[in-house]
Amino acid sequence: MPGSALILGDSIPKLHSDEYGKISKLVYEHCGLDLREGKQSFIAVRLGKTLRELRLSSFQVYLEYVRADRTGVALASMVDHLTTNHTSFFREPSHFDFLCKDIFPALRARPPIHIWSAGCSSGEEPYSIAISLMEEYGMEAAERVRILGTDISLRVLERARRGVYPAERFEGLPVPLLQRYLLKGHNASAQSYRIKSAIRSMVEFEYLNLMGQLPENYRCSVIFCRNVMIYFDKPTQQNLVARLTDHLEQGGYLLIGHSESLNTISHGLDYVSPAIYRKPNLVRSFKIGRY
Ligand SMILES: C[S@@+](CC[C@H](N)C(=O)[O-])C[C@H]1O[C@@H](n2cnc3c(N)ncnc32)[C@H](O)[C@@H]1O
Repeated sequence: MPGSALILGDSIPKLHSDEYGKISKLVYEHCGLDLREGKQSFIAVRLGKTLRELRLSSFQVYLEYVRADRTGVALASMVDHLTTNHTSFFREPSHFDFLCKDIFPALRARPPIHIWSAGCSSGEEPYSIAISLMEEYGMEAAERVRILGTDISLRVLERARRGVYPAERFEGLPVPLLQRYLLKGHNASAQSYRIKSAIRSMVEFEYLNLMGQLPENYRCSVIFCRNVMIYFDKPTQQNLVARLTDHLEQGGYLLIGHSESLNTISHGLDYVSPAIYRKPNLVRSFKIGRY
């Protein structure tokens, strides 16, 4: 790093408009996050700390540093700082009811049942799926259901894999439910809870950029892709929905966030109820022979 690129002290350099344009374009092209308008101060705040830690004198120097890093680690870290990872256990609870009451009964005859939590953040969503099914169907769910949680943020994936959460993350949930599925920590960890292994063993976590190659040969019955597309523009949403649909089995379900909608994009899914869509079964065409 050239000496002139270093700064001393705690000040954060200003994010100039041209630098903002280049960073938001890089992020948009890499992972679809649309920060191209009105997000200049958001980017300055989120990335300012990184600049200070790296002791870089400007966002331009930081951009050059990210571009020069052929390992991709610097870009991954940049994106990590720009994602919004807000989530909670049993968020938008009607989806978990629908999964247990409608989807699982229809699928239980043909295991294994693959469920994908795409953009799973720190794991609350996939663990809520596992707990809901275990609560309703006991060990049958543990044996038949495989849940894949994926995210682009390495920081949240690490938390998801640990499966340890502070007590306040479970506020408002019924105590007997917590007793069945959580273990309380000891000593310094007394204020945290670990998800029990029976639930953790139903869930696997992997790094995945939804704008990149999706898991090859992976077909699933249900995709939770909730509160992820909200950060993408319409063409990116349309492209993603088409590719997610390819990974759904016929008759499979796509669940999106209740503040999201597929109304303004083209897709081949049937509307079921708010934030729930279904891939139609193939209509067989018969060739009629002559007699
Ligand atoms: C707001 S959280 C939603 C978490 C959870 N689905 C829920 O509804 O509670 C959005 C997540 O999407 C992830 N994300 C954003 N862009 C992504 C991309 N291109 N590929 C994979 N994950 C992405 C973020 O890292 C973040 O953890």
